[in-house]
Amino acid sequence: MSTVPTPLIIDTDPGLDDALAILLALGSPEVDLIGVTTVAGNTSLANTTDNALRILELAGRTDIPVAAGASRALIREAPRTAEYVHGSDGLGGLPLPAPSVPPVASHAVTFLAERLLSTPKPVTVAAIGPLTNIALLVATHPEAAARIGRLVVMGGAARGGNVAPTAEFNIWSDPEAAHRVFSAGLPLTMIGLDVTDRSVITVGDVNGMGDGRVARFVEDSVGFYGRFHQDRYGTTDTYQHDALALAEVIIPGIVETSHHYVTVDCGETLSRGTTIVDLNDVTGHPPNAHVALEFDHPRFVEVLVGRLKDLDTKVR
Ligand code: RIB
Ligand code: CA
Repeated sequence: MSTVPTPLIIDTDPGLDDALAILLALGSPEVDLIGVTTVAGNTSLANTTDNALRILELAGRTDIPVAAGASRALIREAPRTAEYVHGSDGLGGLPLPAPSVPPVASHAVTFLAERLLSTPKPVTVAAIGPLTNIALLVATHPEAAARIGRLVVMGGAARGGNVAPTAEFNIWSDPEAAHRVFSAGLPLTMIGLDVTDRSVITVGDVNGMGDGRVARFVEDSVGFYGRFHQDRYGTTDTYQHDALALAEVIIPGIVETSHHYVTVDCGETLSRGTTIVDLNDVTGHPPNAHVALEFDHPRFVEVLVGRLKDLDTKVR
């Protein structure tokens, strides 16, 4: 097992579950978060960028650069954002410190390209929002995209959906971007609803984490997110979609995957944004994604809560 941390960039649309995913990475010595790039998705780009800055401020990690990216989807604007889930500001209106540093001047895509070309070790990219920035990277800096060591995407589903009968929010928000990314030949792992719809973290899991500021934010966040789940699903259990993707980055193998061909429906019907996963390999197309189908839930809870507690011991 390598003791040298893996360089990591998180492309994100914070987002309550994005926030826990970013904090999980900051509490994990297996990875070195060298940058955060933001994209519109759960809420506006202005909000997702401000939220990323505030999350890093909370964790005392204003040394980590934040670069703002795409403010809308490539071709057709997403029909809606997800403030109905994450609150009007994207983080439940929860109290967080104001940013003391601005985002960097570079666009997220330029930032990604520069980091990928200048970092000696292969960089892992965790994409936990719509894939617009990653698609633009592939299109404008293919030589940089080719240096991605691993691309872990929270998005899609082999079966089911959450914003449409068969579509998951990140893919549905920018299907053309997702299609470009899935067809780019990148070392892609897809962490879809097949597993994240079971990535339950309960209020009980995070209560009693201590009185640190990370613990307080996490408890408030799960509480707020839980109220949405109560209204929508009849339980305060929360699905921590993005944190499971980061858990796979940090503990490879916590999620069981199967290698299959995946493409994206970019049509204009109800199935727009569907990830079409060839689970039975009937198309004859070569596999292009490691698709998550099972995961170790007790281990996930242990890793998430444990690393968030560890982070709190560093934040004073
Ligand atoms: O469908 C879940 C995904 O959409 C998560 O990344 C969540 O943050 C939202 O962006
Ligand atoms: Ca997200």
